[in-house]
Formats: sequence, C-alpha cells, structure tokens
Amino acid sequence: MRSLSILAAISACSGIATCLPWNWPPYHGWESGKGGQGGQSESQSEARQRASAVKQAFQTAWDGYYQYAFPNDELYPVNNTFGNSRNGWGASALDALSTALLMENPTIVNEILDHIPTIDWSVSYEDEPVSLFETTIRYVGGLLSGYDLLKGPLAYLCHDSSKVDVLLEQAVNLANNLSYAFDTPTGIPYNNLFFGNRSNDGATNNGLATIGTLVLEWTHLSDLSGNPTYAALTQKAEGYLLDPQPATSEPWPGLLGSSVNISDGLFIDAYGGWGGGNDSFYEYLIKMYVYDSSRFGEYKDRWVLTADSSIAHLASHPSSRPDLTFLAEFNGTNLTLQSGHLACFDGGNFILGGLVLKQQEYIDFGLALVAGCEDTYNSMLTGIGPEQFSWDASSVPLNQSAFYQRAGFYIEDAQYILRPEVIESFYYAYRATGKRVYQDWAWNAFLAITKTTRVGSGYSEITNVNAPAGGNFTNFQDSFLFAEVLKYSYLIHAPDAEWQVNHNGKNEWVFNTEAHPFKVAGTPI
Ligand SMILES: *[C@@H]1O[C@H](CO)[C@@H](O)[C@H](O)[C@H]1NC(C)=O
Ligand SMILES: *[C@@H]1O[C@H](CO)[C@@H](O)[C@H](O)[C@H]1NC(C)=O
Ligand SMILES: *[C@@H]1O[C@H](CO)[C@@H](O)[C@H](O)[C@H]1NC(C)=O
Ligand SMILES: *[C@@H]1O[C@H](CO)[C@@H](O)[C@H](O)[C@H]1NC(C)=O
Ligand SMILES: *[C@@H]1O[C@H](CO)[C@@H](O)[C@H](O)[C@H]1NC(C)=O
Ligand SMILES: *[C@@H]1O[C@H](CO)[C@@H](O)[C@H](O)[C@H]1NC(C)=O
Ligand SMILES: *[C@@H]1O[C@H](CO)[C@@H](O)[C@H](O)[C@H]1NC(C)=O
Ligand SMILES: *[C@@H]1O[C@H](CO)[C@@H](O)[C@H](O)[C@H]1NC(C)=O
Ligand SMILES: *[C@@H]1O[C@H](CO)[C@@H](O)[C@H](O)[C@H]1NC(C)=O
Repeated sequence: MRSLSILAAISACSGIATCLPWNWPPYHGWESGKGGQGGQSESQSEARQRASAVKQAFQTAWDGYYQYAFPNDELYPVNNTFGNSRNGWGASALDALSTALLMENPTIVNEILDHIPTIDWSVSYEDEPVSLFETTIRYVGGLLSGYDLLKGPLAYLCHDSSKVDVLLEQAVNLANNLSYAFDTPTGIPYNNLFFGNRSNDGATNNGLATIGTLVLEWTHLSDLSGNPTYAALTQKAEGYLLDPQPATSEPWPGLLGSSVNISDGLFIDAYGGWGGGNDSFYEYLIKMYVYDSSRFGEYKDRWVLTADSSIAHLASHPSSRPDLTFLAEFNGTNLTLQSGHLACFDGGNFILGGLVLKQQEYIDFGLALVAGCEDTYNSMLTGIGPEQFSWDASSVPLNQSAFYQRAGFYIEDAQYILRPEVIESFYYAYRATGKRVYQDWAWNAFLAITKTTRVGSGYSEITNVNAPAGGNFTNFQDSFLFAEVLKYSYLIHAPDAEWQVNHNGKNEWVFNTEAHPFKVAGTPI
C-alpha cells in the first residue's frame, strides 16, 4: 500500500514537469464539431457537462486506486485495501492509461508512465497462473495503445520520449515472457502459464476467444517492433479457427464450437455463441480487417459468414416481447435462449461491420441488438442490466413470470461487475447514427452505475441489479472500469477526434477488446 496525500502529489508534479508543455493546446476543442451525422445529438453544453462528469468519475476511481492500491492490480474500495488478481503488475494503471490519455489528463498519464519501467514481467504475484488472453488484452493492449497515442496525436501529453519508448520495450519484454505458451505440437497456445517454472496448467484444450483474441495485439506488436515473430505465432493459432475442423464443429457457416484440442488442432464440440469465452474471436474478425484490409480480407470474409448466420439462425424474439431482439446460444443447431452482459458487445460489433462494409442491414440489425440490451438496463430497479438472462418461455421461474411478461427476459444472474459492453454498443450506435437517444442511454447507464456502485474510496461490483441499492458490494473495482466503462461513457459525449469511430466507415484507429485504441496499419478503407 502506498500513501498518497501530499507526498504523492509532489512526486506526480515532478513527473509532469518533464512532460507537460503548459502552453500547448489540447488536441481538439469542443468547437470542432461532433461525430455521427450531426443535427440530432445533444447540445454542446450538455455534451461538455456530461463528458466532464465522466472525467470526474474517472478521477474519483483513480484517486482511490492511487492512494490505497497502486501499483497493485485493483482497489478494494470498501475497506481501502487492494488485490492482485492480474499477476501484480498494476493492471488498473495499465488499463487506465489510454483513457487518461483520451481524457487529456497529464497528471494521471505521468503517474502511470513512471510505473511502467519498474514492472518485472518475469515474476507473477504469488506465482499465480498468468492468463495469456487477459495479459494480452489488458497489459499488451494498454502498452501499445499508450505508445500509439503518445507517438501520435497526444504526443503533447509527454515530451520525455524515453518514457514513451519504454512502452514498446516493455510490450516486447512481456510478449517474450509469454511466447513459450505457443510451444505446442499445433502452435495453439496454452492459456494458463506458470512463470515460476515456465510451465502451464496442463490443459488439453483452449477456448475460442482465448485463442482468437491475441492476433490484433500481437500483430500490432510485430508491426511496431519490426519483429515478425509475434504476428506469426498468433496468426498460426488463428488459422485453426479460420478453417475449423471437423466440419461438424461449424453448425452454421462462421459459427463455431467452443474448444480446440491443443494436440491436434481439432474442435472438440459444437456449442457456442456470442457470449463469454467465444465473444471476442468474432469481434476480432472484423477488427483485423479494420486494422489492415489488405492483409486481413480472409478474416472479414469469415466475419461476414458469422454475421449472416447469426441473423439467419440466432436472432430470437421473446414470446412476451416480440419487439425485442437477442442472439441465442447454440449447441449444434439447437438454440439455447440465453444471453448476458458480455454478449451485449454484439450490437456494436454488427454496427462496426456495417459501417466498414457499407451494409445497412448489419447496422440495422446491430441497432436492434442495442435496443434489446438497453431493455435489460431500463427494466431493472437500479437501471443496470444483469450478468446473465434468459427468455426461454418454458423455463420462466414462477416468481419472475410477471416480470417476463413485461420485460421480455428473466434474470439468471443478477450481479453487475462493472462491465462495459452495453455502453460500448451505445457508443457504436451513436457514432453510426448521430442520434442523441444513444447518448441519453449511455448517460443514464453512467448515472445508474456511478450512483449504485459508488462506495468507500471508489466503485465496487454489486450483487443484485434488481434490488433497490444493488444488493451488496463485493469490494472489488475491476481494472476495466478504467479501460472500458469510463472510456466509452466519455467518448460518446466527447468532441470528434481521429480515434473516434467514424460513421463513414474509414477508421484511423481500432479499439481492442479492452477498449485500448490502436492506430490502424493499413490505409483506412
Ligand atoms: C521478461 O521481462 C523482463 C522485463 O520485465 C525482461 O528483462 C526479461 O528479459 C523477459 N524475459 C524473457 C524470457 O524474455
Ligand atoms: C509449476 O508451478 C506451479 C505453481 O507453483 C505448480 O502448480 C506446477 O505443478 C508446477 N509445474 C511443474 C511442471 O513443475
Ligand atoms: C486431442 O488430440 C490428441 C492427439 O490427437 C488425442 O490423443 C486426444 O484424445 C484428443 N483429445 C480430445 C479431448 O479429443
Ligand atoms: C462458448 O459458449 C458456450 C455457450 O454459451 C459456452 O457453454 C462455452 O463455455 C463458451 N466457450 C468458452 C470457451 O467459454
Ligand atoms: C451439447 O449437446 C451435447 C450432446 O447432446 C451434450 O453432451 C452437451 O452437454 C451439450 N453442451 C452444452 C453446453 O449444452
Ligand atoms: C438437439 O435437440 C434434439 C431434439 O431435442 C436432440 O435429439 C439432439 O440431441 C439435440 N442436439 C444437441 C447437440 O444437443
Ligand atoms: C425467486 O425465487 C428464488 C428461489 O426461491 C430466489 O432465489 C430469488 O431471489 C427469487 N427472485 C425474485 C426476483 O424474487
Ligand atoms: C456485503 O459485502 C461485504 C464485503 O464487501 C461483506 O463483508 C458482507 O458480509 C456482505 N454482507 C452480506 C449481507 O452479504
Ligand atoms: C478487506 O476486504 C477483503 C475482502 O473483501 C478481505 O479479504 C480483506 O481481509 C480486508 N482487509 C482488511 C484490512 O480488512
């Protein structure tokens, strides 16, 4: 633990002195216009007020973390202590970096930059297993995004180029520590690694998302470092997902089973969907194409198959609320009428694909999914949606049948763990349409989240989104509150900028699944 107050404030200032040019203008003024198609969005003064409230929440969460938890992974806000669920390298700090940059907060940026050179990736806290997936999306993602922004449009936030160069050096160090994970008969990596003895958990399989969500970060690392190894490792593993075998593991074109045998590269099942464990594999198919359309056309072709099959076979309307659209899960060609908070990134991903491929059908379908996820928020007492829900009319619990009639779903898991996906999809919906209704939905969600989860020195996960005060606090402030919830909550009200998703489909930046923006490598299409 580290005590902040005056001491830390002074050391933070000394960091800034080398980095902050007091006389430089911010990247973009509020006068430079806003995204979307204009005309219908919130007024500039409203936008400014809302964006500033989000910045204030970010400051509150950071102050609690910095005072009681930094440089550990997470703040326990109820009793002002900390935990290290992500190997003790400072997950909240690295996840906060790109958001602090986009919010143009030089003090926080420099507090984080000062920490990064001190991280020793070769040692995991208490020799806890290192997740290749989580480490890639949070740590590698945070480092590369910080590097892109500080080498590019936000260079004015740090003039000490050695601090910026360390971001890439540390990303290379981290990937070098991780890369033995790919040393398997097929090249499909183990996900859970023990750094102490450089072994793994002995798993026989790895999952769709944990194999298929490395390729953006590791390809970008190769592009920036000039070392092609990182891209080659992850693209080889991805190859088993782009050409899935056996054929039975792909019940509809582009919709895949859930686990792959590390020894022979064959899928071992045929169940899946857009939810946790499978989700970001599908997400990255289109994002790789955004990153570089000249290299990743095959990924785009696979995403189109996934999108078309999802519209044709997974789109589902609750019997009590046929106006709502959710995506079902599947086992073979049987549907399970179940979804959850994690899957609510789906609307945003369809919208991104529709913008980039200029296919209105995908945008319209994405907007329908966005409206379904909004329904899960506005039907709850707290105004926050549940972790897991279902609309299987044959299994509605008796004490939720009236609720199912009204809301079109019933709760299976009522907790909220500071997840971003619903607000993330509001963000894409707003950037595509310019309609303020999505800004208002994001604002309402932000207000509900900050009101209900605020406790002690920060914000905490809660146990019950349908209890008046959210049930109880679990005493945990996840690092992705910084990376994702507060970033998308901010960007939807923020001025136009090159990193914002562009409604004309030409994107100069692409957000990794942890919401860290990367500069795209190809010519924006
Ligand atoms: C692991 O990262 C550290 C820096 O934290 C670096 O010094 C070391 O060389 C890396 N180990 C490997 C195996 O690359
Ligand atoms: C490596 O270390 C981990 C954690 O300490 C332990 O559980 C595992 O059994 C070890 N594996 C080998 C192959 O020694
Ligand atoms: C995984 O592949 C290996 C090698 O072909 C095989 O021996 C093993 O039975 C497979 N495991 C499963 C669960 O299919
Ligand atoms: C993929 O989705 C299915 C259906 O929800 C789920 O049972 C499975 O655990 C998911 N896959 C992984 C690797 O988590
Ligand atoms: C999928 O169906 C198979 C065959 O009926 C069954 O063994 C398996 O448990 C099911 N998996 C899930 C996640 O429902
Ligand atoms: C799908 O449902 C049918 C009919 O209930 C059942 O016979 C079949 O085993 C199910 N398939 C899977 C993969 O669960
Ligand atoms: C419904 O009943 C179950 C089982 O008794 C209980 O756990 C749950 O909290 C109840 N849900 C509601 C919304 O009252
Ligand atoms: C509420 O959560 C706190 C930790 O945040 C715990 O100490 C307490 O026992 C919980 N109360 C209930 C009623 O579960
Ligand atoms: C703070 O709460 C956590 C659980 O939420 C508990 O494990 C820890 O012991 C508590 N620490 C102190 C100093 O009370």
